[in-house]
Amino acid sequence: MEPLLNIDVDSWEACLPPVCAQRAVDGLEAGRVLFFPRLAFALQAGEEGFLDPASADGRAKNISLDPVRQELKGTALTGAARAGLQAMVARFAAHAHALVSRVLADYAPHLRFGRTSYRPVEVRQRPASYRKDDSRLHVDAFPSRPNRGERILRVFANVNPDGRSRLWRLGEPFEDCAQRFLPRLSAPWPGSRWAMQRAGVTRGYRTLYDHYMLALHDAMKKDTGYQRWCPQTEVAFPAATVWAVFTDQVSHAAMAGQFLFEQTFHVPVSALRTPDHAPLRVLERLMGRQLA
Ligand code: SIN
Ligand code: FE
Repeated sequence: MEPLLNIDVDSWEACLPPVCAQRAVDGLEAGRVLFFPRLAFALQAGEEGFLDPASADGRAKNISLDPVRQELKGTALTGAARAGLQAMVARFAAHAHALVSRVLADYAPHLRFGRTSYRPVEVRQRPASYRKDDSRLHVDAFPSRPNRGERILRVFANVNPDGRSRLWRLGEPFEDCAQRFLPRLSAPWPGSRWAMQRAGVTRGYRTLYDHYMLALHDAMKKDTGYQRWCPQTEVAFPAATVWAVFTDQVSHAAMAGQFLFEQTFHVPVSALRTPDHAPLRVLERLMGRQLA
């Protein structure tokens, strides 16, 4: 399977002919990256100044916008500069939503907005405890925000002004990876997930699905041998391109690059065309039990 599936549109509001739309959804759900080589997120006059790592506060990996509270985090900017930065991030969120609602039209009524992030810091310089080190192959799982089997669909736009690509590695198919690691993952301590919810460590209850996805994320990143020898390919996403991928399913690692936008959407398993490919269904099949 080719890792990238090219979609030849040059507008955030483009619709696809039905045959292409079906190919896109099937490819995405099978674990391919939808790649938009002719689509770019254009900055507006005055926004070039935000192409500076100093836009970030130096502590967080990313600047992020909460979709419900419309609250911007991870920046040290204040006043008008902060408002300008927030407007730019919010505009990306609106574009990403327009794109997904049209290109993946079947998902549109079911999409739930996650955070928007802007990543102005060079990947090679980002903080790196192994769990936070996204240059190690992993599937995404959030420690504090359980998603109970809902998918993590992410739209990325490389806005590097010097023409530098975002370099990723893509790893093996989800089922191969899950099969390899599952025997090593321990069950949760009895009562621990209730306690985490009560103490506010997690927003909502961490289901068994969330527990095992997080354990898989950590185990993959921790295994330095696996990082070297597992089946993988390098992919370069050029400046002024866009891509979309289910990052809970597709093993990925960011190796180099600077200035990236990312929008997260959650999609319920029931809205998928091929739910059997969803990590929830794969894990349930491999473990022989319900996980969420
Ligand atoms: C990640 O989602 O793990 C990192 C992607 C990136 O920053 O390029
Ligand atoms: Fe990731």
